[in-house]
Amino acid sequence: MVFLNGKFLPVEEARVSVLDRGFIFGDGVYELVPVYSRVPFRMEEHLARLERSLAAVRIRNPYSRAEWRDIILQLVARQPFEDQGVYFQVTRGVARRDHAFPKDAAPTVFVMSNPLLSPPQELVERGAAALTAVDDRWLHCDIKSISLIGNCLLRQVSADAAAVETILFRDGKLTEASASNVFAVRRGVILAPPKSNLILPGITYDVIVELAQAAGLPFEWRAVSEAELRGADEIWVTSSSKEVLAIVTLDGRPVGDGKPGPVFRNMHRLYQEFKQKVMRAGKERQAA
Ligand SMILES: Cc1ncc(COP(=O)(O)O)c(C=O)c1O
Repeated sequence: MVFLNGKFLPVEEARVSVLDRGFIFGDGVYELVPVYSRVPFRMEEHLARLERSLAAVRIRNPYSRAEWRDIILQLVARQPFEDQGVYFQVTRGVARRDHAFPKDAAPTVFVMSNPLLSPPQELVERGAAALTAVDDRWLHCDIKSISLIGNCLLRQVSADAAAVETILFRDGKLTEASASNVFAVRRGVILAPPKSNLILPGITYDVIVELAQAAGLPFEWRAVSEAELRGADEIWVTSSSKEVLAIVTLDGRPVGDGKPGPVFRNMHRLYQEFKQKVMRAGKERQAA
């Protein structure tokens, strides 16, 4: 079951015009909310980011916050599986092809929910491989745009090498990865590239920062040079689907001692505990 323009219907019956600006121009924005045991994780933050993305590209938000919440919860309830990734996108709608915005097109809204595949335990314990590339995307990476050709090309660099991510440098500094944020650990200090127009403000990034600060772990927001990242003791990637994952080889060379480090193991535990806490609170609310 998916949601398209006000209706719940089977995916096979969902149809969008070939003139939709999402199809023609990649003219739209999207979100992905992870759902654990049918409890959405950080839904309000994802909805707030959607509102910011829509405003940034000047697409009218067709729904109120309460309406978005309701659509997501209804779709979650209609799926046969417990852990879900709810994907939703809004495009500028259907119009005769012209780069300039149409005057009267209604935004197209599509929502689907798929089984959420969290990283297997083995990958968490062993760590993952990443490659690097020059970040040659546009200068509005803070907008969660559906125009993802830049990210897809960069992701394929690591996919071709059976690695989990492509970590990006712009002007010699770490930005993020093709579909995740990146943290480094040097001499026990967690380093996070500050938010800017060059990275997506990750919802998981915020959770990691909050958990680090609450636990009193040494933490700094600052630019990380390519040399610093290559010499880091630990590298992590974070996203709603990857959660937090240790990168143990970068371009084929070991990161630190080539195993997930102690700061990572601590953060991974804190993250899982936090997830469980949110899930339990959500279950109690649903039962009340
Ligand atoms: C380019 C990019 N950076 C970072 C992220 C992580 O964002 P979040 O933690 O909100 O999933 C994503 C997620 O899809 C992404 O595509």
